[in-house]
Amino acid sequence: MSFIEIKHLRKEYGDSVPLKDVSIDIGKGEVIGIIGPSGTGKSTFLRCLNRLETPTSGSILIDGEDVCRPDADLAKLRRRMGMVFQSYNLFPHMMAAENIMRPLQSLLGVSAEDAYDEAMQQLARVGLDDKARLYPDELSGGQRQRVAIARALAMHPDIMLFDEPTSALDPGMVSEVISVMKDLSQTGLTMLTVTHDMRLAKEVSERVLYMDQGGIYEDAPAAKIFEDPSGERTRDFIFDIRSWRYTLSAKSRDMREMLSSLDDFCRRTYMSKKQAVNCRLAAEELAVSRLLTDIDAHPDHSFGVTVDYCEESGETKLLVSGSHLPEKGEPVSDAILADAAERLPDDEKGRAVFGIICPADEK
Ligand SMILES: Nc1ncnc2c1ncn2[C@@H]1O[C@H](COP(=O)(O)OP(=O)(O)O)[C@@H](O)[C@H]1O
Ligand SMILES: [Mg+2]
Repeated sequence: MSFIEIKHLRKEYGDSVPLKDVSIDIGKGEVIGIIGPSGTGKSTFLRCLNRLETPTSGSILIDGEDVCRPDADLAKLRRRMGMVFQSYNLFPHMMAAENIMRPLQSLLGVSAEDAYDEAMQQLARVGLDDKARLYPDELSGGQRQRVAIARALAMHPDIMLFDEPTSALDPGMVSEVISVMKDLSQTGLTMLTVTHDMRLAKEVSERVLYMDQGGIYEDAPAAKIFEDPSGERTRDFIFDIRSWRYTLSAKSRDMREMLSSLDDFCRRTYMSKKQAVNCRLAAEELAVSRLLTDIDAHPDHSFGVTVDYCEESGETKLLVSGSHLPEKGEPVSDAILADAAERLPDDEKGRAVFGIICPADEK
């Protein structure tokens, strides 16, 4: 018998069916990442597990106990399952230590002294014992999230659920949360982490579930999912994460939108600052100096910019394709791209393609 056994789990809200039919076995101490497009039921899945939601049908056995039964002991269930959300949900008027002590005192009836000792122990575990007396607004986002993790750990759960724990954080603070989660993953805790952050999914989990359209579409070791996924939808999803595309045409040439979308992509992939700046300058330069002027002369033409990022090598490849790009030998841009751009074979539509490779550099 597996530690967690889920059979034909289904959740409906009226006409909307975020979870169609999920069956999965999870072993004790397994560290699982859950990825997939938005709105495919990932959060609903976690919320059914700790019974913040009542499943419409199916069963969830935890350690042999059916937590979907009407008489299930939900208070006990939630004590053994810590949950960490995107927004830390700390009480702003309480110091870090008090935020951890309060649920121990009110839910478990632990004495103030014992709750304090426990809070200090858990804060030490996430590297924040020197911040016990600070209020949430005196902590950085990463530190707040670590306090939220410490608060969940103080209940001594054997399962931890994380729902996008890094998505509200500035990129600079993601590493400290990943590092804490990595440490936790070595302690025998069973962990399920929903995330859009591929670095988190990759570095923390052994097994990754790709969810799509209310079901588990692929379930494989992390390395397999990221390097050689079997399913077509998984492949498309992983490709989209590493690659950014934008098309400018006479009808649609919102430079601001293009650049802010590119900035988002650079942040998501943890590109170095220098690479992000290079990509931005290159895209801007091309769009303004070459492409947009051509678009006016040829309203039927469009130009696409693609950025591919390789996590393994850290290399960034910026591809520009279009039918009115400069001729061979002519530098794509005088200021930034001179010498950097390489003319690549034409694309399948016979359009010229230029590539700019930005090597990895120090973050
Ligand atoms: N309480 C709710 N009432 C109605 N629909 C909901 C509720 N919670 C989630 N949904 C719907 O279920 C779908 C899946 O949501 P969710 O589990 O949050 O997806 P994900 O976490 O993968 O982005 C969404 O289309 C959402 O609108
Ligand atoms: Mg969600």
